[in-house]
Amino acid sequence: MKAARQLARWLDELGRISDERGRLTRTFLSPAMGRANALVSRWMREAGLAVRFDAVGNVIGRLDGPDARSKTLLLGSHLDTVRNAGKFDGPLGVLLPVVALAELRRRGVALPFAVEVIGFSEEEGVRFASAYLGSKGYAGLLTTADLNLRDAGGVSVGEAISHGSRGTATAAKLREAARPPRSRDLIGYVEVHIEQGPVLEQAKLAVGVVSAIAGQSRFRLTWSGMAGHAGTTPMNLRRDALAGAAEFVSGVEALARRTPGLVATVGLIEVSGGAANVIPGEVTHTLDVRHARDAVRRDALMRMGRLATRIARNRGLERHWLRTQDNAAVACAPALTAQLARSVEAVQGSCLSLVSGAGHDGVVLSALAPVAMLFVRCRDGLSHHPAEHASPADCDVALRVMVDFIARMAQQHGR
Ligand code: GLV
Ligand code: MN
Ligand code: MN
Repeated sequence: MKAARQLARWLDELGRISDERGRLTRTFLSPAMGRANALVSRWMREAGLAVRFDAVGNVIGRLDGPDARSKTLLLGSHLDTVRNAGKFDGPLGVLLPVVALAELRRRGVALPFAVEVIGFSEEEGVRFASAYLGSKGYAGLLTTADLNLRDAGGVSVGEAISHGSRGTATAAKLREAARPPRSRDLIGYVEVHIEQGPVLEQAKLAVGVVSAIAGQSRFRLTWSGMAGHAGTTPMNLRRDALAGAAEFVSGVEALARRTPGLVATVGLIEVSGGAANVIPGEVTHTLDVRHARDAVRRDALMRMGRLATRIARNRGLERHWLRTQDNAAVACAPALTAQLARSVEAVQGSCLSLVSGAGHDGVVLSALAPVAMLFVRCRDGLSHHPAEHASPADCDVALRVMVDFIARMAQQHGR
């Protein structure tokens, strides 16, 4: 399909917009995010959508329905990335719906509902170690605790948002400004995303639907000991914050390995004032813990808490936990997912349903609307890596599923 070639070109072009030379990195409200938003908004306008930006940097392309009482179908994903990212995680779910809507317009399909395609400004949690700032902003769900989170440079979420707008961003003002459609006016939220795992590849299927999204908790932990001279302080008199953190990281890994389905990751660690000849006095690191069952995740977190207490006591360290994110597992909406599965069956012949270990904007949108997700096969199951890849043929299948799905919804709502 010509539309699939258009999608591939757009993904390539967007994948070149980065905050870092030579690799793809776009973080919340960064200069590259501004450029990405400008490009995506141009493509949205060319596809016939009316574009607006909201206070937290989301780009929203809207196709009005036939009248003011029309319901709205939400489609989208995020435009931010991890550091040194692939070009599909996020942008695929923003650009594919734009191409699908242009294709439906070309075919003369009139929609009896409104559509909003949203490019969320933050889903990865790179800058503030807390994800979903974009979708929370869209849904009017940002809290004062979210706004008080600080990045590595000491800038808070609230300050970052205020910088690009007039006045100080408060949770109340952002809630007031957001005004998302009321739940009763929403048909649902549908997100297309690269699978980021190996299940579809193993099943030899291009696409599948998601049954549920695993719950996740993220933390920023600080260990404080005593800095000192690396040459003169005997080992038994040290209070080495990094050695304590290292023991914790190994313990967390061992705990996750023996708990089926649990995944736990320390992805970022910093030694304040670190030098080769200084005993680390203070260490900060992230912790990301996920499981499809909330009870298992909570139990693991309690055990990790006890582990940290024991290590701190044995080593004479102080430790401080800041919870930066906590999301329960989310079940996708059965009826909307069944409709999406019908389109998958029509295009692909069969449909597989899988659980997502990765977080998605649908987690937050589930507070507003029924959520369904379409996963696209991912080469070698690799994601959060520059070699992340979904083939043009698989993206074409996903595009045909989306076109079929919207056309069926149009038939159903047109009656
Ligand atoms: C988002 O990609 C996540 O970390 O799940
Ligand atoms: Mn993603
Ligand atoms: Mn991601």
